Amino acid sequence: MFFCYTTSTTILFLLLLFLLVSAGWCEKSPHRLVKSTPVHLDKSYGKLYKHNQCHYMLKHLQDGEQISVQMPPDIAGHWVSESCEVRPGPEFLTRSYHFFSNHTFQALQFYYRDNHCTKPSYTLLIEGSLHPRQASWLVRGGTETDYQLSRVLLVSYSLPVTKDLQVKLEMSCGLTEHLQPDLSYELWVEGSDRDCTHGLDFSMQELQLLRMERRFRPSETERHAEELFVGDVHTERTQRRNHRPTGYQPPLQNIKTYDNSCIACQIVSVADLYHPPVLPSRTDHPPRLYGNWVSKRCEVRPGVLFLTRHFVFHKDSNIWEGHYYHYSDPVCRHPTFSISAKGQYSPGVPSTTVMGGTEYTFTVTQMKVTPMDVATTSLLNVFSGDECGKHGSWKLGVQQDVTPTSGCAALGIRLPHTEYELFYMGQDSAGHRLLFNGQRPTNGSSPDQPHKRATSYQPPLIHCSSGQKSVGKEGDHYFRLGNGCNTQPQYLVYPLILVQLVFCVI
Ligand SMILES: *[C@@H]1O[C@H](CO)[C@@H](O)[C@H](O)[C@H]1NC(C)=O
Ligand SMILES: *[C@@H]1O[C@H](CO)[C@@H](O)[C@H](O)[C@H]1NC(C)=O
Repeated sequence: MFFCYTTSTTILFLLLLFLLVSAGWCEKSPHRLVKSTPVHLDKSYGKLYKHNQCHYMLKHLQDGEQISVQMPPDIAGHWVSESCEVRPGPEFLTRSYHFFSNHTFQALQFYYRDNHCTKPSYTLLIEGSLHPRQASWLVRGGTETDYQLSRVLLVSYSLPVTKDLQVKLEMSCGLTEHLQPDLSYELWVEGSDRDCTHGLDFSMQELQLLRMERRFRPSETERHAEELFVGDVHTERTQRRNHRPTGYQPPLQNIKTYDNSCIACQIVSVADLYHPPVLPSRTDHPPRLYGNWVSKRCEVRPGVLFLTRHFVFHKDSNIWEGHYYHYSDPVCRHPTFSISAKGQYSPGVPSTTVMGGTEYTFTVTQMKVTPMDVATTSLLNVFSGDECGKHGSWKLGVQQDVTPTSGCAALGIRLPHTEYELFYMGQDSAGHRLLFNGQRPTNGSSPDQPHKRATSYQPPLIHCSSGQKSVGKEGDHYFRLGNGCNTQPQYLVYPLILVQLVFCVI
């Protein structure tokens, strides 16, 4: 979570190197199944994984389940949210998307007044068509698609919400109808000049990027879970309509394969425009951070960054550690570098902006970096000067403390570093504790000022226990940088395309 690249040239160089060395970049061939052949983390990281449930869980991400990715994906079917989702703003919603084999779709987005999705406010029904095009150049493992909308309908469910929408729509599109609860209104239809979707900052740009994963669970050889990822939503509402996705939203579950424990899946799958899903209500508890938390899956960050994370919050003190393991591929098999950061955090304060959220301030005062592949090792040696560890001394797999050089200029990290964070503590359907922290600004900046604090979340970390007091020693090893923020996407696109072309032609 904690770092953002700040220099675009650095990033570009990094990316170029990553891309050039990452085999399989041209996995473009149609209908190809990209299967993961796990590389054992314990092999890459030495003895780090011994006797530690957290490390076991991270490793399990690689070889416990087999993930296959279809490119381009066959997404025909019915897909639903597995929980109440939070979009920047914040907006609380659940989604129910139907994709038909004739390339048309019907997407329902149910919006709510509360963070547990128990009080529906309004729903959008979006219809259109969708054509997968090619492997994404921006996000490895994703498929780019073209979409056209044909119609957007709105239904609201209570008088206060309806009045509120009436005001917004009158201002944005000169709506003349008098809205009423439980009746549907056409916000936009193909061929019409009037577009009332503006008033809601509505956008379906998310359909430009898709990824479908099939997870084969060793315990259930007959059943595989199918998950559909669609593109992310810009963290600035005003940018949404122009945003080209570079990451994903939480996955949607196929209604044929979701786990029976997913109550939300069941409720959302039977809902319709006039009967919005009402999820079970829950009580929010302030986060209890103490302990160890690890990624549930290989995470994708805007740009071409893939990582897993491991956080440690010490007991009875306000010290935290973050271990970021970075990879060059979308199933986190090829490590590129790892970062271990350490610092302090402030006591949590309930957020007044995001219902259910808690605000923290984090500082990073110590940092160690381990290059895990040849490209990153060379990069660090080329760049270092006296700005990133000892000049020219980086060796593959060998960790260096970069605290004495105030961080690592090559990686865009300066110490001490402060970030304004948003946390939320939830539960998965099996009752495991989940920890969510704030989404990074899509424009690649760091939330280093209070007004940049997130209003939505990154993928959750799951609680685990560590045999040791501190994972610092073992965790120190791997991985990568931060969490994933990146620089201005427009600077990234052209070099990426260039690299892609060069690499693929050869
Ligand atoms: C596509 O298929 C859906 C579901 O079978 C159907 O409702 C719709 O009318 C079809 N659209 C076109 C343009 O054929
Ligand atoms: C990036 O976004 C943040 C908030 O999300 C904003 O405060 C900042 O000005 C933006 N920076 C640029 C360079 O656009």
